[in-house]
Amino acid sequence: MATFEKPKPSESIPLNLLPVIQSAGVLTDRQFQDVKAKVLSGEYPNESRALAARLVHDNVLTAYQTKRFLSNKSHGMVVGRYAILDRLGSGSMGRVYKAHHLMMDRVVALKIIAPEIATNERVVARFYREMKLVGRLDHPNVVRAYDADQLNKILYIVMEYVRGQSLAQLFRKAPIAPPDMVNYAAQAALGLAHAHEQGIVHRDVKPSNLLLTDDLKIKVLDLGLGVLMEADDQSSFATADGIAVGTVDYMSPEQACGRDVDGRSDLFSLGCSMYHMMTGRLPYPGENPIERLGKRISGRPVPLTEVQPNLPAGLVKVVDKLLAYKPSERFQTATEASEALLALIRPRTKRVAPPPEREPAPAPAPASPAVVVTPPPVAAPPAVITVRPNYPTWFQPLASFAEQKPRAALCAALGTLAVTFACGFGIALLVR
Ligand SMILES: Nc1ncnc2c1ncn2[C@@H]1O[C@H](COP(=O)(O)OP(=O)(O)OP(=O)(O)O)[C@@H](O)[C@H]1O
Ligand SMILES: [Mg+2]
Repeated sequence: MATFEKPKPSESIPLNLLPVIQSAGVLTDRQFQDVKAKVLSGEYPNESRALAARLVHDNVLTAYQTKRFLSNKSHGMVVGRYAILDRLGSGSMGRVYKAHHLMMDRVVALKIIAPEIATNERVVARFYREMKLVGRLDHPNVVRAYDADQLNKILYIVMEYVRGQSLAQLFRKAPIAPPDMVNYAAQAALGLAHAHEQGIVHRDVKPSNLLLTDDLKIKVLDLGLGVLMEADDQSSFATADGIAVGTVDYMSPEQACGRDVDGRSDLFSLGCSMYHMMTGRLPYPGENPIERLGKRISGRPVPLTEVQPNLPAGLVKVVDKLLAYKPSERFQTATEASEALLALIRPRTKRVAPPPEREPAPAPAPASPAVVVTPPPVAAPPAVITVRPNYPTWFQPLASFAEQKPRAALCAALGTLAVTFACGFGIALLVR
């Protein structure tokens, strides 16, 4: 349940909260009239703070909304058809809110793009072109985009609201265990593969853009928004070289150089994210962003084995391939990358040969261990033991005949029975 937040003591609290609530527009007319009637009848308190607390308690308003109203701020609480419910956070491109579609009763995430980006017409035009592609995305590992629009110079995008946390939030608590990381990265690669197939390169794959749902599904966030941070010499958002300001720690060398990028650049960023979240260290460490950027353009990452020597060789190989300097030396598609990652956690189904009967073979050299699931030992097929009954000597020829020619033996037995029966029947007739 939402908690009630007190406004700062310095802020002036409105004497009557009802007009503030009404002008914000977050309630439908009917909802507002209902609240007003309850205040007039005395069912709800009149005093602003007490009324706010009661409305939060009754889930009529959220704590975030009442905090704003008690500070006399009613503007900006409705964007298009969406009422702002809560603030989810902010990043380099804008602020993200939890919002509610007034008509459709749907909770969404609404990202308001920073004004310094939204006022650049060329960037906005590029954004709209990209949104046409983003609208086609439909994959369980991709956060779905519902809507994008610009109203009174406010550029926003509406997305599926994901209950959970970003991997950046998770990783802030502790490094992510390699088996979990492989699972999350494999899911992210599947989402990226879908986007790449639709012609969209993410351009900003990083821990904060990978959301982990409460049921442990990864959803790639901010697809299509990479165009907002692309080189644009008219944008204050970009540096003089046209390289976007933002985190450089997951960028591919070709992106850092401002060259054209394709899906393989996203795979490099995924590799950097995995490296960072498993080890707590950056593959290209440095005192400042410029130094770190320079290292990725000119050098190799600090070997993963140096940072965390006990990682399985198979996993190290996959991360190294994701982090290859030349795109041609990486996985060529995200599908290929996801398969390589999934192979690390898929239980092996190959049957193990039964152990030799006498001298055991020397222990094999350790193969690259699987990351998570060690296959359960496969039992050797049971040996067939033939048990011979101890027949009397006179019966043994018959027994071996029956063993060698079971059909003939059965026919002979049935024939003997029929003849015996016929003889018995004939004798009985004669006796009568
Ligand atoms: N669709 C969504 N559902 C739920 N939470 C979201 C959604 N989109 C963003 N968030 C949350 O909102 C916060 C801000 O996201 P945002 O993408 O702005 O930050 P960022 O990834 O750190 O920066 P940026 O992507 O701008 O470089 C994050 O905590 C993120 O988890
Ligand atoms: Mg983001």
